Amino acid sequence: MSLLTELRARFAVSLESLGEDPKRWIDQVRPAQSPEYGDYQANLAMCLAKRFARSPRQLAHELLARTELGDLCDRLEIAGPGFINMRIRDEVLEARLTQSVHDPRLGIPLRQQTETFVVDYSAPNVAKPMHVGHIRSTVIGDAICRMLRFVGHRVISDNHIGDWGTQFGMIIYGWRHFADRTNFEKDPLGELGRLYRLVNELAEKDPAVAQAVQTETAKLHAGDPENRQLWQQFMPICLQEIESIYRRLGVTFDYTLGESFYHDRLPALVEDLRRRGIAQESEGAVCIFLEGFKAPMIIRKRDGAFLYATTDLATLIYRMETWQPDWILYVVDHRQSLHFQQLFAAARLLGYDKVKLVHVSFGTVLGEDGRPFRTRSGETVPLEALLDEAVARARKIVDQNDEAKPNGPELSEEERARIAEVVGIGALKYADLSQNRTSDYVFSFDKMLAMNGNTGAYMQYAYARVRSIFAKAGLTPEEVRARDGSITLKTTVERRLGLGILRFAEAIDLALEDFRPNLLTNYLFELATLYSTFYETCPVLQAETPELRQSRLLLCDLTARTIQKGLELLGIGVVERM
Ligand code: ARG
Repeated sequence: MSLLTELRARFAVSLESLGEDPKRWIDQVRPAQSPEYGDYQANLAMCLAKRFARSPRQLAHELLARTELGDLCDRLEIAGPGFINMRIRDEVLEARLTQSVHDPRLGIPLRQQTETFVVDYSAPNVAKPMHVGHIRSTVIGDAICRMLRFVGHRVISDNHIGDWGTQFGMIIYGWRHFADRTNFEKDPLGELGRLYRLVNELAEKDPAVAQAVQTETAKLHAGDPENRQLWQQFMPICLQEIESIYRRLGVTFDYTLGESFYHDRLPALVEDLRRRGIAQESEGAVCIFLEGFKAPMIIRKRDGAFLYATTDLATLIYRMETWQPDWILYVVDHRQSLHFQQLFAAARLLGYDKVKLVHVSFGTVLGEDGRPFRTRSGETVPLEALLDEAVARARKIVDQNDEAKPNGPELSEEERARIAEVVGIGALKYADLSQNRTSDYVFSFDKMLAMNGNTGAYMQYAYARVRSIFAKAGLTPEEVRARDGSITLKTTVERRLGLGILRFAEAIDLALEDFRPNLLTNYLFELATLYSTFYETCPVLQAETPELRQSRLLLCDLTARTIQKGLELLGIGVVERM
């Protein structure tokens, strides 16, 4: 159990004994605002005093008297209006840290109650090239899956790709009128991309083309053999593109059940909803009227076409029947929030009242001009090009660093290339994950590859720096772990580092509470900062005694492993040398 969970469990017992529901108040037990106040604090007394007709300080005394804390804390103070400040015993910190040395999970417990999560993320509309807008859903969704799995939940990742929409009408129309077959032989994806852009542009200017595109799409949906055959031919090419991006990003899915998978189910679904009185005909369309919404949710248009919402309902039913999840998370940009509100309301009407449905929404990626990020010519930026550029820039840094080494360059061409890939992709992911997901953020290569500040490159550097101590000592971390010895927290600075390491569990809990990976990046950055101070003030290899040296080496090892594990939970790699 994390220290915080343990403290909360203790206070929960006393709250119960006072006849209070602990769930309601327990958040008031939290990490201390600042180290002068101790390690943790409980602000319960201020919230509860009125209910017991006591002064907050009186109630704080009473709470302390009822709460068993002596084995965990050695200093308990009531401060100001009634804050309870708690300092954890050094022996408790030391024992927990020493235990973590041999624990691959670094003391992070598995959840006692595990649940099933379906996570819907990435979900690009294929047949148009993936662009910068797809990075957020992909990277945030992947990090959420990794964290959930690590604490023991059952996670099903499902890439609900858009493989049935108008974009196929566009390339089918383009194929019929403008295909360059020689180019298609050479570069199928490039040719499809070209056709998509061309027809997209034409359709914007010419309503007749737009109409023709609609007709091709409708024919595809209605089962026209030629259009279906073209779709069959184009799909593998489209999938190859997204797979090569996922491979580079290190992202995988358990299932890729796109819109086309549900197409055959839609007519029966609409009929069923009508029969059950959940959907009604209105002006020729079929709608679900939802309480609290101005407009109904249309599930079949007058012309018989089904909509995005219809497919999402079918998808939800399929997921409920197939996996019986406790949660379904939709990692999708904030502009779709009305859609999801309606979808969730409709799900309740269908009788799915227990499953927790969450729209994990996120803001837009902006350019330095504060507008949605585009190329100079105003087009969306292809994701592949973005990855290449991040890696190229990382490569420059790797080259410079290596050439500036006091004894000359150390890295081979291969190593440099590999490090640049890890650093470049890591920087891109970290830049995204470290933002509060609900706000927009400004994309900047310079900022994301800065070697100081809260960046991926800095975190990877921090990791490599900790590891370099072992090289200097002529020991591997495994050798250090295998030796006898325990962790002693001699100075305030190393005590803070030790407490920081132990708070990894809290950071993961916090990040999962509202699915916010930035709370984990914040934690990792704080840990790296604590380590920097430790490194500057506490000699490791020159420590006064062999025992202290061993203890500090173990602290270094735990720091490195915590950073490594934390980055891994975010889908980011580390390198041993930079
Ligand atoms: N393909 C959609 C888009 O690009 C996102 C799909 C999100 N998932 C879902 N179940 N609606 O806008």
